[in-house]
Amino acid sequence: MDSRAKIAVFISGGGSNLQSLIDASEDGRLSGEIVLVISGHDNAYGLERAFNAGIDTFVYKVKSYPSKEDAHRDLLEMLKEYEVEFIALAGYLKLLPPPVIANYKNHIINIHPALLPKYGGKGMYGSRVHEKIIKAGDKESGVTVHLVDEIYDHGKIIMQKKVSISPQDTTKSLAAKVLKLEHKLYPEALNKLICETKKI
Ligand code: GAR
Repeated sequence: MDSRAKIAVFISGGGSNLQSLIDASEDGRLSGEIVLVISGHDNAYGLERAFNAGIDTFVYKVKSYPSKEDAHRDLLEMLKEYEVEFIALAGYLKLLPPPVIANYKNHIINIHPALLPKYGGKGMYGSRVHEKIIKAGDKESGVTVHLVDEIYDHGKIIMQKKVSISPQDTTKSLAAKVLKLEHKLYPEALNKLICETKKI
């Protein structure tokens, strides 16, 4: 029997964090297998990354269903069909439907490009986060991986690492530094969650 956990990854864009999870799964740093990639946009480059790795994809748009409830039910059914045990949000910018959160309590994680609880919440994503941090003149930023609940960028922190900001740093250079750290940290944090939950 394959004891590796079945994982779904939710994306919206480039999917570089998805790629870091795919790589970690392929080279044995992740005690899990990505069985499904779900995107909120049909033109997300991350879908191509999934395709190249032979992973099934699903474009999930609430608006293409007769009602919100139908959309939520279909998403949950899809996750069940793939026997998904853990969910990793990798740049997914919407809140997950309440039935999904309820069914996967303590099994969903998110990565955020700052030191939560600072610089989180609705609309705080990507370069907007780094721009605010540079403008505020902060001396450090970092990466946070946390459990997901019904609130944006909320939930118990399971891993956090800092990067220092030099006076020469720009929004772009800070974004690059943080993203590099994200790619290292996300597979580690997801593996930790899987191993602690499944006691392996
Ligand atoms: C990442 O920096 C991730 O931390 C951020 O979106 C980016 C996705 O990049 N997520 C958030 O800001 C969540 N609030 P990717 O598509 O290259 O992985």
